[in-house]
Amino acid sequence: MRRQADGAHPDLQAALEHLLAAGGKRIRPTLCLLIGRMLAAPRQRLITLGAAVELLHTATLVHDDLIDGSLLRRGSATLNAQWSPPATVLTGDFIFARAAKLAADTDHLPLMKLFAETLAIIVNGELTQLFAARGLASRENYYRRIYAKTASLLEMTTCAAAMISPAGEDVVEAMRMFGYHLGMAFQIVDDVLDFTGAQDEVGKPVGSDLLQGLITLPTLYYIETHPSDVGVRALLEGRYLFEKEAMEVLIERIAASDSIEKAMEEAREHVRLALEKLAATPEGEERSALEELARYTVNRRF
Ligand code: IPE
Ligand code: IPE
Ligand code: MG
Ligand code: MG
Repeated sequence: MRRQADGAHPDLQAALEHLLAAGGKRIRPTLCLLIGRMLAAPRQRLITLGAAVELLHTATLVHDDLIDGSLLRRGSATLNAQWSPPATVLTGDFIFARAAKLAADTDHLPLMKLFAETLAIIVNGELTQLFAARGLASRENYYRRIYAKTASLLEMTTCAAAMISPAGEDVVEAMRMFGYHLGMAFQIVDDVLDFTGAQDEVGKPVGSDLLQGLITLPTLYYIETHPSDVGVRALLEGRYLFEKEAMEVLIERIAASDSIEKAMEEAREHVRLALEKLAATPEGEERSALEELARYTVNRRF
């Protein structure tokens, strides 16, 4: 990943270095390497794929933070906190391009198609959220949104790692489903942490979804049981921007309500379905680690 800015403008090199030094959980390349090793995929291609996926993820975060106006990511200042929007956009574009190049380096045409298709799904999802999701209390819409922005990439990662291995079609499909369920659980937990997490642990701003009028699963549950709450009314009537205090009270109420546990229950159900998909794969160190990673998804604090 670090080598991808070699020969580029010094500021671009520094930006990539800054992004990579902050780390992040690296959950996507970890999934890629574990699944690939479990299924005996060629090592070098697997590493290339892992780097491609993590860079794609990194590029989406660079653009996402600019769009959301977020100043903190992985405990460090975001690029948009330090740079102009044009420089941030272009850096994201550069990282997208490098990710695509790495995906092509796997020399696997169906994989490249899947990679491009997934990027289109993510961008379309972000755009849909940007234009339509404010104050919209719809479960359908929520699931579609979290699939597009998060689960699609985890699904692609686990599927692609299996695709470059000698495994048969049924195993590839099982791994795709494993990534899908893990991805859905992962984003539900991300949305829960936006209510219950501590900013210094999570490493990014918390409470920001509702302040932007973005309705996630804990809020959907809360709306169902508290339809006449003043904060709920302000949210659904599109007044969230003018009633910041009411929104802050609402965030605290949701965080203290059983809506959190209900959302976590859904996340745990996805993890259970994900673990089921692993049952068909070879037992060993990698599978145990994947099981552990799946459970970690719902037990994490950041
Ligand atoms: C953040 O992803 C964006 C979401 C899809 C929720 P991660 O939580 O994997 O971020 P890093 O890479 O560990 O920082
Ligand atoms: C962004 O989702 C995920 C992308 C694919 C860009 P969020 O907006 O929930 O991610 P965070 O909370 O900023 O990490
Ligand atoms: Mg965001
Ligand atoms: Mg979030």
